[in-house]
Amino acid sequence: MDASGTAPATAPKTVFKQKVFSGVQPTGNLHLGNYLGAVTKFVDLQDRYDCIYCVVDLHAITVWQDPPELTRAIREVTAAFLAAGIDPKKHIVFNQSQVAEHAELAWVFNCVARLGWMNRMTQFKEKTGKDRENASLGLYAYPSLMAADILVYRATHVPVGEDQKQHVELARDIAQKFNNDFGPQIASHGFGDAFFPLPEPLIQGPATRVMSLRDGSKKMSKSDPSDQSRIALTDDADAIAMKIRRAKTDPDPLPHEEKGLETRPEADNLVGIYAALSGKTRADVLKEFGGAQFSVFKPALADLLVAKLSPITAEMRRLKDDVSYIDSVLADGSARAQVIAAETMKSVKDIVGFVRR
Ligand code: TYM
Repeated sequence: MDASGTAPATAPKTVFKQKVFSGVQPTGNLHLGNYLGAVTKFVDLQDRYDCIYCVVDLHAITVWQDPPELTRAIREVTAAFLAAGIDPKKHIVFNQSQVAEHAELAWVFNCVARLGWMNRMTQFKEKTGKDRENASLGLYAYPSLMAADILVYRATHVPVGEDQKQHVELARDIAQKFNNDFGPQIASHGFGDAFFPLPEPLIQGPATRVMSLRDGSKKMSKSDPSDQSRIALTDDADAIAMKIRRAKTDPDPLPHEEKGLETRPEADNLVGIYAALSGKTRADVLKEFGGAQFSVFKPALADLLVAKLSPITAEMRRLKDDVSYIDSVLADGSARAQVIAAETMKSVKDIVGFVRR
């Protein structure tokens, strides 16, 4: 250990096991943005990584939640994970409040993160608008808890939609500052030159930011007052077809090239959704539909949505009624998650200098 407080130059480079962590809030119904931006990625990553997927109920209560509705939503998001194809035996599916270490590490991170960093978080500014004085302290500290979610498992990869990029970057900053601040202790406890990995956001594909069906400049969101702005994972075929039929568009036919979408946010959004659902690029979709009117493209998109979503919706409905099964998945996942989280917290306590049992 040297007097400057930096890790000894001799500390071996820490090698982290590659691991995926991500979370979804149990607030309202999941929508197409959550599905394409996050849940489908969760499913795809299962073959390549050990994955931990969390229903982040501690995050949900940063704004008021009706308690019975929160309980329902926790089970519904879990059902959506399973219905979409996440395997809770091979990987871990759980709800955050069952693993107290998330909140415990978040406190340590509250003391590592700087106010200036938190003040830059655009989502907090967007969510609170002019009513900032009235926002909960939890909403302000939210990104610190999110960093703890990821880092309590020392996860290296975080699949999210575009809107969460800044939060994952903040988690990197917190990890980096913790590693620097406690460098000597990290090395002396045998963890090498870093205790936490710098997690990487995984934001790929044509639908990392799915937009509102009513306004191509706003992201599709659970909190939009218009139900017509989003496709919920619980929507039936008729509702999907109707919402796509009514989706805002412009009068021109689809362009032949991607460049032609640049000034047409609504068209760009619908083409992006089609691309993501069919596993194609926007360019491929335009090869097929370039020159077509929306009266042709919209029914094709609605059919594709129904074909892709209806098996998931049906399975979600079946699972949701099996409360004891859902709760057993969460209990089993939480127990397995906690083993990993407790191990991390034990080391964090040693590194920070707490006395423990
Ligand atoms: P949440 O619950 O708002 O959204 C869940 C996931 O869906 C993505 N998403 C979208 N993707 C594309 N287009 C959209 N319109 C769209 N809307 C939402 C989000 O980017 C997210 O990936 N803070 C997180 C939850 C969280 C978390 C974490 C995520 C808590 N701890 C740790 C990763 C790691 C959130 O509120 O997501």
